[in-house]
Amino acid sequence: MADKFLIDKAKTVLNQNYQKKGFTIPSKNLYPFQWKWDSGFIAIGFAHFDMEKAKKEINSLLNAQWKNGFIPHIVFHTKNDSYFPGADFHKSSLHPKSPVHIDTSGITQPPVLGFVLEKLYNIADDKDDVLNFLKNQIDKVYKNHEYFYSKRDINNEGLVYIYHNWESGTDNSPVWDDIWKTMNPPRYKFERKDTTHVDSSQRPTDREYDHYIDIIELAKKFNYDDHKIAKHSPFLVQDPLFNSILIRSNESLIRLYKILGGNEEKIKYLRSKNEKSLISINEKLYNSSIGAYLHFDLRNKKNIPLVCSSSFSPLFCGAPNFKIAQRLKSTLVEKFGKEDYYLCSSFDPEGMQHDPKKYWRGPVWINLNWILYNGLKRYKFKETAKRIKNDSLELVDKLGFYEYFNPSKKNSKNNKGYGGENFSWSAALTIDFLSEK
Ligand code: SER
Repeated sequence: MADKFLIDKAKTVLNQNYQKKGFTIPSKNLYPFQWKWDSGFIAIGFAHFDMEKAKKEINSLLNAQWKNGFIPHIVFHTKNDSYFPGADFHKSSLHPKSPVHIDTSGITQPPVLGFVLEKLYNIADDKDDVLNFLKNQIDKVYKNHEYFYSKRDINNEGLVYIYHNWESGTDNSPVWDDIWKTMNPPRYKFERKDTTHVDSSQRPTDREYDHYIDIIELAKKFNYDDHKIAKHSPFLVQDPLFNSILIRSNESLIRLYKILGGNEEKIKYLRSKNEKSLISINEKLYNSSIGAYLHFDLRNKKNIPLVCSSSFSPLFCGAPNFKIAQRLKSTLVEKFGKEDYYLCSSFDPEGMQHDPKKYWRGPVWINLNWILYNGLKRYKFKETAKRIKNDSLELVDKLGFYEYFNPSKKNSKNNKGYGGENFSWSAALTIDFLSEK
C-alpha cells in the first residue's frame, strides 16, 4: 500500500477514536477511556497532522494528575460499562491527593510524557505556539518525575519500582509468572468485559486477573499510600522498560527546559537523578551472561532471568555503552529475529512460556517496536532499525491497525491481527514511522 494511503487510513482511525471531551480512546469497546502511555503515543501521531488534538490529548491527561504529582494509568472521563475494572473498582478518591473533579485509577504506566513533549516540539511547524503550550505543561511532567524519585526509588539508587503488572504496560508477560506463584489470592467474583470483545485465547486468564485484582485490593486497603504499598505489595519490581522511559524522558525535559530558558534548579535536579539512574540501570539490571537487561524483583530480592522486548529498551535512553549495545543487538537479532519471525516478539521466542497469540506473552507490539527502532537508530544500528520499522509497517499494512500481531511468518496467509481493532497507537506510530524525513 502506498505510504500516503496508509497514513490516511491511520489518520481516520485516530479521528474516529478521538472523543468530544478532548481525549482519544485506545480502541472502541475494549478500552473506552483514556490510558496514560497510549495518550502519549497518540499525541505523537496527531502532532503530524492536527497539533490542536495532540495538545488536547496531553492536556486532558494532565488535568487528571494528582496533587502529589502522580499520573494515573486510566482517566475515566465518561461513564461506560464495557470495561472492567472501572472507576467504581479503582476508587481513586481513597487517596487524599487524588482529584475531586474526575475519577482515575490508582496505578500508573510508563512515564512517556517527557519524550512525547519533545517530539511535539520537534514535529511542530509553529515552534512559538508549541513553546507556549510546553510552558504551561512541562512543570506537571517534572512534578511527576519528582514523584517517582521521591516515592518510588526506595533504595535511593535511581531506579523506581512498579507495584502492579499493569504499571509495566506489559500486562501478562511471563516475566511476572514466578511472582504470581508467591501469592495465593482468593477467586474473586468479577465479570470480565475484555473477553466479550476479544477472544479469550488472546487475553490473560481469569486466574491471572485474580492476582491483578488482589494487588489493587491491597493498595486500596492502604488508601493508595506509596509507603505502605512499598512495604506490603507482593509485586514490587524495577522494570528496565519503565526506567528506560523515565531516563529518556528526563533527557527530554532537560533539553526542553534549556530551550525555554531559566529553570536551572530543575535542570540540576533532573541531571543528578539521571546520572544515578544510568549508573544503576547498567550495574543492577544488565546481565552480561545473558546479554540483556533484566527485571529486578525487589520483593523477593532477585533478578528475573527472562528476556522480553523490554530487555532491549535501554537502547532508547542511551544507557548501554557501545559494546554492550552491540551485544544487545546481537541478542535481539539472534533470539528474536530468526528468518521466519517478525521483529520484535514481546517475549523470547525460544522461551517455554512464549505464546504467539496471548497479549504480552509473544505477540509483536507497534509501540515497543517504535521504542526499539528509535533505540537502535540512536546507536546507528541502521540495518536492524530498518528491519524493525519495515516489519511494523508490513504488519499494519497487511493486517490492519490491530493491537498486536503474531510474530511468526509461518502460515502467514492465515495470519490476522489480534486484540483491539483500529487501535490508536498502532495508527499513531505508523504515521510517525512514515513521516520520517
Ligand atoms: N491494559 C490493561 C487491560 O488490558 C489495563 O490497563 O485492561
